[in-house]
Amino acid sequence: MYIIKFGGSVITNKTKENCFKQEVVDDLVKAIKKANKETIIIHGAGSFGHIIADKYNLNKGHKSSDQLLGFSLTHGMVQKLNSLVLDSLHNNGIPAVSIPPHSSLILNNHNPLKFDYIIFKEYLDMGFTPVTFGDVVLDKKLGFSICSGDLLMLLLAENLEPEKTIFVIDEDGFFTSNPKEDKNAELIESATKDQLNGYVASKDRHADVTGGMQGKIETIKKIAELGIDTILLNGNKPDRLFKVLNGEKTKSTIITGGQK
Ligand code: IPE
Repeated sequence: MYIIKFGGSVITNKTKENCFKQEVVDDLVKAIKKANKETIIIHGAGSFGHIIADKYNLNKGHKSSDQLLGFSLTHGMVQKLNSLVLDSLHNNGIPAVSIPPHSSLILNNHNPLKFDYIIFKEYLDMGFTPVTFGDVVLDKKLGFSICSGDLLMLLLAENLEPEKTIFVIDEDGFFTSNPKEDKNAELIESATKDQLNGYVASKDRHADVTGGMQGKIETIKKIAELGIDTILLNGNKPDRLFKVLNGEKTKSTIITGGQK
């Protein structure tokens, strides 16, 4: 089983509110269909979630009553994005079922308190493709906060032992420096968790309430500690996703698991 996360910056235009990249999603979904592997799909919120969550300061927790509407509006937006992703999966013949975090997970000061992963397993065992996404959730300490798709990746990897986790991002993988600013940046094809220690991610240039690239690195290190390999690849080149799922070599970064 593979867990795949479609990054919000791949499936939406992150600088323009509620802008869905239909063709990119359709192409990624076709790659998954063609590879015909057991998968769980997670997607980020992109411009359907980060901008409004930032506006209402939701990730800091419950501080004022107007945030309740902000929470609901954010929830509505990510649910809309989820419907668009589901439509694409269904249109391509994938039996996808949505499992929204706001009703299957509770956090405590951003850390997982209660997570119903069994439901993912039950759906998988029946042949469905579970789909979940970055969402607003209840938080015991803060009232509410935000659960990123990256945290879901870690929680599902911990509990369901996938063959690999795959982050579909808007770059070819991790680079020695920011490829958008430095033309000498080189792709890191393979690294261990420890080699990621000195790696400082480039600053995200758009609203990102859940930790951006640096947060992703921390999550990937924890997945490596579980002994699971993580692959980062460019979602704008859907043949790369197909190749990874099909066991072929392609341009990407692999963070090898196995070391504590
Ligand atoms: C963020 O999820 C969820 C909300 C802002 C509600 P992610 O952190 O997984 O989203 P992306 O991939 O960065 O867009």
